[in-house]
Amino acid sequence: MKLTIHGAGYVGLVTGACLAEVGNDVINVDVDQAKVDKLNGGGIPIFEPGLTDLVRRNHEAGRLQFTTDLEAGVRHGVVQFIAVGTPPDEDGSADLQHVLAVASNIGRWMDDYKVIVDKSTVPVGTADRVAAVVRQALDDRGQDVDFDVVSNPEFLKEGAAVGDFMKPDRIVIGTNSEQAAKILRRVYQPFSRNHDKLILMDVRSAELTKYAANGLLATKISFMNELANLAELYDADIEKVRIGIGSDPRIGYSFIYPGCGYGGSCFPKDVRALSRSAEQIGYRAELIDAVEAINNRQKELLFDKVSAHFNADLKGKTIALWGLAFKPNTDDMREAPSRSLMESVWAAGGHVRAYDPQAMQEAGHIYGERADLLLCESAEAALEGADALVVVTEWQEFRSPDFDGVKASLSEPVIFDGRNIYDPDTMQEVGITYYSIGRGARAA
Ligand SMILES: NC(=O)c1ccc[n+]([C@@H]2O[C@H](COP(=O)([O-])OP(=O)(O)OC[C@H]3O[C@@H](n4cnc5c(N)ncnc54)[C@H](O)[C@@H]3O)[C@@H](O)[C@H]2O)c1
Repeated sequence: MKLTIHGAGYVGLVTGACLAEVGNDVINVDVDQAKVDKLNGGGIPIFEPGLTDLVRRNHEAGRLQFTTDLEAGVRHGVVQFIAVGTPPDEDGSADLQHVLAVASNIGRWMDDYKVIVDKSTVPVGTADRVAAVVRQALDDRGQDVDFDVVSNPEFLKEGAAVGDFMKPDRIVIGTNSEQAAKILRRVYQPFSRNHDKLILMDVRSAELTKYAANGLLATKISFMNELANLAELYDADIEKVRIGIGSDPRIGYSFIYPGCGYGGSCFPKDVRALSRSAEQIGYRAELIDAVEAINNRQKELLFDKVSAHFNADLKGKTIALWGLAFKPNTDDMREAPSRSLMESVWAAGGHVRAYDPQAMQEAGHIYGERADLLLCESAEAALEGADALVVVTEWQEFRSPDFDGVKASLSEPVIFDGRNIYDPDTMQEVGITYYSIGRGARAA
C-alpha cells in the first residue's frame, strides 16, 4: 500500500520503517530539512534499538523515502498518518499547531479519498478539529473530496519501540467509517497475525484511551513514590513492600518501581494535558493533578538528599552523574529527572561530571558548553575527583560496578541511587554511604 507518515521523530520514523518492512511503499515527510538530509544520507537522528538497520534496509530497498516535499507526501498515500509532536502549550494543554498544520496541508493538496490518521497523542475532540481544517482547506480550493479522520493512538515505548510496533499488545482504531476501518485493518494485518489485535471503537473513546493508558501508568509510579516516601518515614523498606503487593495478581509487578520520578516526552505532558483538557470542559481531575504534583516533588527528592548530606552547601562540590536519558535504551532527555537534578546542583553552586551510554550528544545540544558540566567518556571517568555519585537512569552497565573502584575515585564514598538498583547491605559491606528511595539512609 502507498502510505504517508507526517513526522519523522520517535513515532513517525518507527512507524514508517515498520510499515515499510512489511512491504508497503512509504513516504516519511518532515519539515526539518536537516533531519531529512541526515536520513537520506543513511544517518539516524535518534537512538532506538534496532531502528538503524530497519531504516537503512528499507531506505535502500526504495520502500522508505524521506522528504520535506509536503505536496508529494500528501499525493502519495491513501493513508496519511499524522505523527508530529504535540508539545505542552504554555498552560500545559497539548499544542496542536503541528497537527493542524499537517491537516491543512492535506486539505490543500489531496485530490482523492484519504484516510487521515491521528497517531500523535491528542486531546478528545481533535479528530473533529482536524476534519474541520481539512474541509476548510478543500473549500478554499473549491474542492469536495471525500476523507475520513481516524484516531489511532500509538502505544510504543521508547527503548523498545521497534518490537512494540512489530508485535503490539493492541491496535486501537477509532472511527465510525467502515471504509476507513477496512483500509486500516489491511495496513495492520501483518502486525496482528498471532491473534486479532485490532480494537475498534468510536473516535473520542480512542482519543481518550491513550490518555487513560498514560494517566494510569503515571498514577502507578506516583502511587509507589508516595508510598516510598512514607516507607522512609516509617523506617520500612519500599522494595519489600513492592514485592509484597506485586505478588497479588490484581496488582502485578510491572510499573510499581519507586524512583526519582517519571520523565520523558509522554507521561509528564500527557498527564498535564489530560488535566487541562478536563478543566476546559469544567471538570477538576483531582487524581491526575495529584499524580503530577507528586512527580514534581519526587524529581526534587534526589537533590534534597544530596543537599542535606552536604549540609546545604554544594558550592565547590562536584557530583558524578550516571544516566542522563529519562530511561534506559534511549537518548531522549525530554523532562528527564537528570535535568532537574543538574539544574538544582548548578543553582546551588555545584559542578556535574556526567556520563550516559547514549544521551551525551543530546545533553550537549541542550546545555552546550558550560564550566559546571563535564560530559565524560565513561562511567569511571565521571567519578574521578567527584564528591558523590548520583545514579539517575538504570542502564544495565550501572547495575554492577566495581564498588571498590567507585569508592577509590570519589573523594567521599557516598552514592545516591535514584532507581534502587543497589543492595543496601552490599553498600554497607563495601563501606559506601548509601541513599536510595524509600529505604532510608544507610551510613557506611
Ligand atoms: N515518543 C514516544 O515514545 C511516543 C509514544 C507514543 C505517542 N507519542 C506521541 O506521538 C507524537 C510524536 O512524538 P515524537 O516523540 O515522535 O515527537 P518528535 O518530536 O520526536 O517528532 C516530531 C516530528 O514532527 C516533525 N514535524 C513538526 N511539524 C511537522 C509538519 N507540519 N509536517 C511534518 N513534520 C512535522 C518534527 O520536525 C519532528 O521531526 C506526540 O504526540 C507524542 O505524544 C510519542
